[in-house]
Amino acid sequence: MPDCAVAKPDMAEYWHKNPERVEAINKYLESQPEAEVILYGEIAEMDFVNAGKGSSDVKNTLKRLGVDPDTLRRIAVAAYEAEINVAAHSRGGKMTSMIFDDMIHIIYEDEGPGIADIEQAMTPGFSTADDLVREMGFGAGQGLPNIKKNADALHIQSEAGCPTTVDIITYFA
Ligand SMILES: Nc1ncnc2c1ncn2[C@@H]1O[C@H](COP(=O)(O)OP(=O)(O)OP(=O)(O)O)[C@@H](O)[C@H]1O
Ligand SMILES: [Mg+2]
Repeated sequence: MPDCAVAKPDMAEYWHKNPERVEAINKYLESQPEAEVILYGEIAEMDFVNAGKGSSDVKNTLKRLGVDPDTLRRIAVAAYEAEINVAAHSRGGKMTSMIFDDMIHIIYEDEGPGIADIEQAMTPGFSTADDLVREMGFGAGQGLPNIKKNADALHIQSEAGCPTTVDIITYFA
């Protein structure tokens, strides 16, 4: 059995950072400031009726805060893909959205069973979606590449038999 201790330093990890935002992202990660607004959402396994509520919650909140439509769209797309992935590929989990003056950081933490090969999971077209997930219209293997394209940072930590943690960071302007 793998040892899935929280923040296990040798757990496989993937990072994508928008080169134009690397400095700001690293500074944020180092300083760990307190968020202005925090939103929580539960994501149940295979619950495609409610999966998506967390990301629309985020979208509505950011809209009220005056985030511009294009940034809003990119955040909503990334958040939705990550939320559906928890419902479709894990035993369920939660999302925590931390909203700051200039950006949003969303963390998805699920109950496993994890991703055996994160680089492979990032490959456009790769999917392990089962028949039920495909019947719901998912499983094209485009979700993670789509998050990478739309977010300023994507961080994935996982291992076969362990929970998966996904971080998405996007700046507002
Ligand atoms: N939270 C997760 N837990 C376990 N495996 C995951 C998780 N998220 C993604 N994966 C794995 O990564 C693969 C690729 O994910 P991706 O979102 O790119 O495509 P998909 O969900 O299969 O299809 P699509 O997103 O296009 O509907 C998934 O098929 C699954 O094997
Ligand atoms: Mg997906």
